[in-house]
Amino acid sequence: MNPIIFLYLLVMIFPAYIANAIPVIAGGGGSIDFNIKFLDGRRLLGKGKTIRGTFWGIAAGFITGIVLIFVLPTMFFPLYDFSTKLLISFLLSFGALFGDSAGSFLKRRFGFKDGQQAEYLDQLSFLAGSLLFTYSYFPLTPINLVFLIIFSYLIHKITNLIAHRLNLKKVPW
Ligand code: CTP
Ligand code: MG
Repeated sequence: MNPIIFLYLLVMIFPAYIANAIPVIAGGGGSIDFNIKFLDGRRLLGKGKTIRGTFWGIAAGFITGIVLIFVLPTMFFPLYDFSTKLLISFLLSFGALFGDSAGSFLKRRFGFKDGQQAEYLDQLSFLAGSLLFTYSYFPLTPINLVFLIIFSYLIHKITNLIAHRLNLKKVPW
């Protein structure tokens, strides 16, 4: 198989990475769960999932997709027409934030405190959401999926370490 394929995959998943990263700098203020508690008495999602962060994450990911449609037309979902590519860009971004919030929902159910580390869930829930929302468009062979999981895990780890060093994030995960 041609390793260039991996480069194509990274271009196609890139809006999800941006959507997942932007809330760290754009977040704050009211939470998307409106402080609502679940049946177990714990917060539905927690204070780490804010309206501002979610909105700007989805918007930034969507805009990234639009830029890729024009800048890398042969790499970013080349087989689809313009409106489908717009839809894919939105679904990648929305899926990332949805998956990340679903991860927080699970963390709260398992009793993790806001911001507490949950290995693998913290790094991969956004990817699961993105791929779930775009599964009918994304070229996902088993090898492609394994590559995306490993790469996304590592890049999430590295970017969070950097964000911590830059004082953008309280914790290095
Ligand atoms: N963030 C946000 N809105 C989101 C996701 C993240 O505002 N939808 C911001 C918050 O400031 C959050 C930070 O980005 O604290 C880091 O995000 P993340 O690690 O996903 O959340 P945690 O604070 O660790 O919360 P949780 O335990 O629920 O994962
Ligand atoms: Mg966290």
